[in-house]
Amino acid sequence: MKIAVVGTGYVGLVTGTCFAETGNYVSCIDIDAKKIESLRKGKITIYEPGLEVLFERNRKEGRLTFTTDLVEGIKDAEVIFLALPTPPGEDGSADLKYIIGVAENLGKVLDHYAVIVDKSTVPVGTAEKVSAKIAENAKVDYDVVSNPEFLREGVAVDDFMKPDRVVIGTKSDRAKAIMERLYAPLVRQGNPVIFMDERSAEMTKYAANSFLAMKITFMNEIANLCELAGADVDNVRKGIGTDSRIGKRFLFPGIGYGGSCFPKDVQALGKTAKEYGYDFKILKSVMFVNDRQKTKLIPQLKAHFGGDLKGKTIAIWGLAFKPHTDDIREAPALYNIKALKRAGAKVVVFDPEAVANVRKEIGKKVKYAASQYEAVQGADALMIMTEWPEFRTPDFDKLSSALKNKVIFDGRNLYELKDMAKLGYDYYSIGRDTIKAS
Ligand code: UDX
Repeated sequence: MKIAVVGTGYVGLVTGTCFAETGNYVSCIDIDAKKIESLRKGKITIYEPGLEVLFERNRKEGRLTFTTDLVEGIKDAEVIFLALPTPPGEDGSADLKYIIGVAENLGKVLDHYAVIVDKSTVPVGTAEKVSAKIAENAKVDYDVVSNPEFLREGVAVDDFMKPDRVVIGTKSDRAKAIMERLYAPLVRQGNPVIFMDERSAEMTKYAANSFLAMKITFMNEIANLCELAGADVDNVRKGIGTDSRIGKRFLFPGIGYGGSCFPKDVQALGKTAKEYGYDFKILKSVMFVNDRQKTKLIPQLKAHFGGDLKGKTIAIWGLAFKPHTDDIREAPALYNIKALKRAGAKVVVFDPEAVANVRKEIGKKVKYAASQYEAVQGADALMIMTEWPEFRTPDFDKLSSALKNKVIFDGRNLYELKDMAKLGYDYYSIGRDTIKAS
């Protein structure tokens, strides 16, 4: 099949590359000429494990091409994906200017029937808006379909190639048949392609992300209560996660969710509810609790040092909002850095992938270490903000001799309490007992 993908950001590149891998001819289109030039030369513009190999293979075999020209890109395409940014506007609602802009141009240049697919996360009713915009100029038949993505950064290729489910919102049988054919190679294991109307598909995406954000937030509240009530959230997590109605995944408490999706989508769903005059109370609580959770270790850190962090050096391991990505959008680490700086502390940071992005964002406000051990050299305490694998089993001898004080504030519960007690650390984590060496 010949398909086009408009927008070569994270979602667009993963979608384009993976569909090329299943044998389609994919043309990726972007207005950013520099980006297209770099992609043409084989330089991939995002960090996503496993993507580069597929990108390179399909590019070399001519199944993955790049252009800034919409007319050239959509030539003969049966399916045209819109993978464009939908940044939150000032009021929290998703800004559709890029999508509507492309829809307008598509209406003008489309010269054959095509299925136009909203892949970006867009509010309920967007498919209708896109369709109406195209209709203003269209000379040919077309269908607009909602097909939300459920890709996790870091494992996006796997999520794309082996989706739990594919959701497709369309009332058109013609579009349905084409989408079914396109996705067939990805659902051979028997996972469902679920067809529904456009509005339900759009709502599904927001409901899924908001539900997951709520699940994490609920566990964070349970963790906070465990600390007060003398329970251990790790036991509680196992105790409830084995109930198949609850499930084991997404029950890990920590210093809050971040990233480009959950915060934005929870906010946007709240905005949609408001527009329809509905007071979605749980969403408001999720946002409030998550904000509070991000810096919940700071008061404990201050108390540990007698209420004052002035002149203290705090090392931070982990800046990305989660492991296996360089993405720092809404990363808890950034909120903690701000709080530490406000309290007068010096901050030294290390992350395996995200340093360049943090440098761009906050520059010289912190010191950047070249390794996890360099970061802790002479530090008064270590804070762990991202659960990168290399932080899980550090060389504790090296760590203990580098730190000025054996103190860890762990926002990701990486270590066993009994091990930390044995090693002689003061160890603060989430929803569990605090270990005090003395
Ligand atoms: C998410 C959705 O999972 C994906 O389906 C959607 O399309 C985009 O948003 P992503 O933002 O890449 O994907 O990250 P995810 O792995 O879902 O984690 C989101 C946040 O939740 C991270 O900050 C993570 O640290 C946090 N999290 C996750 C927890 O705090 N506890 C958990 O148990 C799981």
